[in-house]
Amino acid sequence: MENPLGLALVGCGRISGAHLGAVGQLADRVRLVAAVDRDLAAAQAAAQPFGAVASDDLAQVLAMPEVEAVLIASPNDLHAEQAMAAIAAGKHVLVEKPLAPTGAQALALAQAAADKGVVLAAGHTYRQGPAFHYLLDHWQNFGKLMAVEVTSCVRWNGPQAPWWATRKPEEGLILSLFAPHSLDFVQMCMGADDPIRVHAEAARWQTGWQGEDQAMILLAYPGRRMASVHISYNQPSIIDRKVLHFSKGVVEIEDGEFLRFNRELLVKPAPGVVRDARVMGGRDLGHYFRIQMEEFIAAARGRPHRSVSGFDAARTIALIDRILADARRNGADAIDPSPPPELALDITANVQADAFSRRKEA
Ligand SMILES: NC(=O)c1ccc[n+]([C@@H]2O[C@H](COP(=O)([O-])OP(=O)(O)OC[C@H]3O[C@@H](n4cnc5c(N)ncnc54)[C@H](O)[C@@H]3O)[C@@H](O)[C@H]2O)c1
Repeated sequence: MENPLGLALVGCGRISGAHLGAVGQLADRVRLVAAVDRDLAAAQAAAQPFGAVASDDLAQVLAMPEVEAVLIASPNDLHAEQAMAAIAAGKHVLVEKPLAPTGAQALALAQAAADKGVVLAAGHTYRQGPAFHYLLDHWQNFGKLMAVEVTSCVRWNGPQAPWWATRKPEEGLILSLFAPHSLDFVQMCMGADDPIRVHAEAARWQTGWQGEDQAMILLAYPGRRMASVHISYNQPSIIDRKVLHFSKGVVEIEDGEFLRFNRELLVKPAPGVVRDARVMGGRDLGHYFRIQMEEFIAAARGRPHRSVSGFDAARTIALIDRILADARRNGADAIDPSPPPELALDITANVQADAFSRRKEA
């Protein structure tokens, strides 16, 4: 029997509840020993149920020998600096997506972790579900991959964390916050290859933030393969759909849970996981965070695992750099000025729960 992995959580905000839920379910394999937040009360609230230390000082927690691993769930612009400090302290690190603000910073992290001999994993949570594992495990059955389509459109009625509102258009909003999930899926399907051509269009419909809230991306990969991605924060009836065109037929993954091959249903969720996939909070996402944590523990313990490596995540961030640059080249005027009144969305017409805070309250 292994000792439970000693974990420190950095950033005790909205998404931390999902990670702590996973830690609670895996008590035989992982133990929360510290929670860090610049808001000490938030750190205390996270630490207290686990009997962990609460702190507002990351350096102090990184000096604790019982901290073997660090989970970084702070705002995006802190990931690179905090992850680098954890690596330098010899800790394994799981970083929420995106791994770093730029591909170059992400690659530097991956290299630093490799040099130090610690695990660096990225929180591309939504490849860690049963349908996605089935897809990879049965890949050979489907023939040659020709094309991938991803549609992932949700509705956020304005910023879900205060720092969303202040992100500059050139830093990306949906392209930095949401696209990492869709692009991680595409990159996973394309293996070791990165796209040879990138085309991107982005637009802003809402006024509560400065960055783009809708985008379409077209990617050409080596070997005549291609991919399209459509993401939006403006869709009141959620759509989450992945279609893979193989030489032997079509794989469709609906709502991250239902996998069909040539319309035959091969994977479906456990009862109660999908209550109403059209609305925010209508799907239980807890198992993704649990599996992600299991895979990270396996990686930290040197066992076979499906964690997303720092090097693979860095390739995805480098791709986002290219997409952001292309979207701005093609139409910064669709993002930078506030949408004119005739385009304003009636966002108050859609009253929906925040999926993550709801879980924290539950
Ligand atoms: N995997 C997913 O599906 C998913 C979903 C939501 C968010 N995220 C990612 O998780 C991260 C956090 O997002 P969130 O929505 O929970 O944000 P949040 O703002 O709710 O939480 C961030 C927390 O970090 C704390 N913080 C700020 N500065 C800090 C510092 N210097 N040191 C320590 N703590 C500090 C804040 O006080 C806050 O409690 C983001 O990178 C986001 O992209 C991932």
